[in-house]
Parts: sequence; structure tokens; C-alpha cells
Amino acid sequence: MADLTTDFCGIRLDNPVVVGPAGITATAERLRRCEDNGAGAAVMKSYFEHELLRQSPTPHFKVIQRRLGPYRSSTLYSFEQASPYGLQEYAQQIQAAKETCTMPVFGSIDCVTPEHWRQAAAACQQAGTDGLELNVSCPHGPHAMTQMTMFEAMIAALDAARQGADRIPLILKVSPQLDNPAATVHRLNAAGTDGVVMFNRLTGLEIDLDSEQPIMHGGYAGHGGPWALHYTLRWISQTYPDLDIPIAASGGVCTGTDVAKLLLAGATVVETCSAVVLQGYEYISQLVDELHQFMAKKGYESLSEFRGKICHRIQTNEQIQRARTRVAEIDASQCTACGICATVCIYRAVQQDGEDYGISAALCQGCGLCAELCPIQAIAMIPVP
Ligand SMILES: Cc1cc2nc3c(=O)[nH]c(=O)nc-3n(C[C@H](O)[C@H](O)[C@H](O)COP(=O)(O)O)c2cc1C
Repeated sequence: MADLTTDFCGIRLDNPVVVGPAGITATAERLRRCEDNGAGAAVMKSYFEHELLRQSPTPHFKVIQRRLGPYRSSTLYSFEQASPYGLQEYAQQIQAAKETCTMPVFGSIDCVTPEHWRQAAAACQQAGTDGLELNVSCPHGPHAMTQMTMFEAMIAALDAARQGADRIPLILKVSPQLDNPAATVHRLNAAGTDGVVMFNRLTGLEIDLDSEQPIMHGGYAGHGGPWALHYTLRWISQTYPDLDIPIAASGGVCTGTDVAKLLLAGATVVETCSAVVLQGYEYISQLVDELHQFMAKKGYESLSEFRGKICHRIQTNEQIQRARTRVAEIDASQCTACGICATVCIYRAVQQDGEDYGISAALCQGCGLCAELCPIQAIAMIPVP
């Protein structure tokens, strides 16, 4: 078996699959369930300074399925707010988790005033947390309502939390709602954060058309899902080169192959949340198993052999080969004459003769959409004749 151990901010993890903060990590008992099911570490549900936000409305989960013809996407849309605990009880849960778990346990705090950032960080450090995520980026947290920019709020949080906790790593959780996350993370690196989480979720809105009201609790909510992976991959791969601090990936992880991709993009560890919310704690071990399978297939024995490997393979705009090298060709013996290729071809390259479809190599621009959409894979992309 390959060695999955990794070091994140000076903390050793048995494997890089970390359960991200949510209700699934809100108590010592639930953190223990993460460990029992193979997690390398877990981050406790965020403590919020704002007492009002410690209670979630009911219900607060909706799985939104969307369709575009035969294609589907899903969003875990939720308004699950803060940990229900006050600071003292939150610290007690960390302490209890540290007594029952051998995996690293991270706290997560979201405060408003500098004094409270300091106090909460101090209480978590005192309780024995291995590290602390600073969650300034909650999609329905208090920062969305202040006048500070996200960057200013993160720096203020880091400075204040550092005054309360000087012995543990402080890890800023970054919002995906930034104009240039790579530049922001490099500035956070320079400002002294020990690591970053890329990313929290986006904030969205869903409307009930009968009542013409926002659904569930009547406001905006966090939304994420499998679709978020590509955004996470893109920004981590762009941020990782030349960064001195480790990145915890978060956003869209559904499978062990997603974990492998995020490691290839440069993540040190990979947080998963919605997948465990929707599939249960047992799913954690499946992610770890699938990562093992990927490494066995590739012959990797440790994570460092492939971490960040993709970054230098990503072509710049200048490097991308733009010559028209391939065109589409239909295998007439397989074609069922469904006509999808003709519907989507904006070049009018798909020509119909009775029941037979063919593609004009002269008109085809080689975009590949017809081959992609053919339901029986009867279209191949061949070299330009
Ligand atoms: C129900 C729910 C509750 C969450 N609560 C928190 C939280 O308290 N603190 C936090 O930093 N992130 C929270 N998140 C964000 C997740 O930790 C994670 O960053 C995000 O969902 C993206 O990862 P995923 O695609 O694996 O879900 C929550 C996410 C969900 C779905």
C-alpha cells in the first residue's frame, strides 16, 4: 500500500482526506465518527461570535437538481448556520475530541470584533486544537454584511487571532468570491498566514415560482456541489507554484479521483464536506480507497511524487496549439440518425441524405461538439484529411 501520510502546517496526517467543517463535525462524537471512517483529520463546525447565528432555521437543506435537456447538475443548497455552542462549550468539545481522537482536530472560528477573534483563538488553543481555521468567508456569515473588503477582513482576523493563539497554525479560509484568488492568497502568505483553505462556498438564491418567494428560510444560502471542483482545481493550480504555505483544497470533492486531481493541482490536503453530508461518514473510507487505487495504478508510493505535477503542464494562451488538426467523421454503420450532430453544428458541416448523415471535412471546424454529444459514440475526431 502506498504511503498516504502528509504534513499540513507542521501537523502529521495519516492521509490527506480531511472532513470539512459542517454539522457533520459539530461535536466530539461526530469528529470521532470521521476518524472511525478513515479521515486523516477533521475541522470542527465553525464557532460564531454572533449568537443570533448559532441557531439554524428549519428546514435548512435542499438538494436542487437542474436539467438542461438530458444533462443534469445538482447543488446542495443549505442555510446551516454556526455551531450551536458558546465559546466555553465549543472549547470543551475540542478538548473532548482531542481526548477521544488520534487524528488531528482543527477548530474553526468566525468572529467580528478583534477582541473576540483573540479570545476565541486563545480558547481553542487552550483546549488543544491542532490548528485553527479562520472562517471569514462563510456565505451567510456576518462579514457579508460589513463594509470591509474580504482581504481586509482576513488580515484583521489573522492579526487579532494571532494575539490570542501564538502556538498553533492559523489557516485562513478563502472565499471563492474574489477577483483574483491566486493574488489574494500570495498576499495572505506574505501577511503571515500558516496555510489557506481554498475555498468556502458561494452564496446563491433559489426562488419558488408558485409563491414567488426565496425558498426555505426566505434568504440567500450557501450552494455548492460537484460542479465546484473545476473552479477549485483551476485556482489551486494557479496559486500553488511559488507559494510557501500549504493549501487545503475544498469545493466539489465527490470521489477519490477528485482528491487525486486536487493533489495533482498542488493541494496538501483535501477537505470534503457535501459528499459526507449526502453519503454519510462511511463514504470517507471510499475516498481514501479510491485515492489508493489511483496511486497503485500510477505506481506512486507517496503523495509528494505527484503533488502539484499538473501545474507546469498547463499551457498559456500563447502556447496553445490553434491549428485545425482534426475533423469529425461519422461511422455510418453505427449511426442511428438521431440528428443531434446536425442540431448542434453551427458550421452546417453535418449533411443529411435521407436517413444517412455525413460530415463535410471541408466545412467541419473540428470543434468536437458533435462527437461529444453523439449518444452512441458513432463520431470520431480524425486527422484533417
Ligand atoms: C451544510 C454545510 C455547513 C457548512 N458549515 C461550515 C462552517 O461552519 N464553517 C466553514 O468554514 N465552512 C462550512 N461549510 C463549507 C464546507 O466546509 C466546505 O468548505 C464547502 O461546502 C465546500 O466543500 P464541499 O464541496 O466538499 O462541500 C459548510 C458546508 C455545508 C454544506
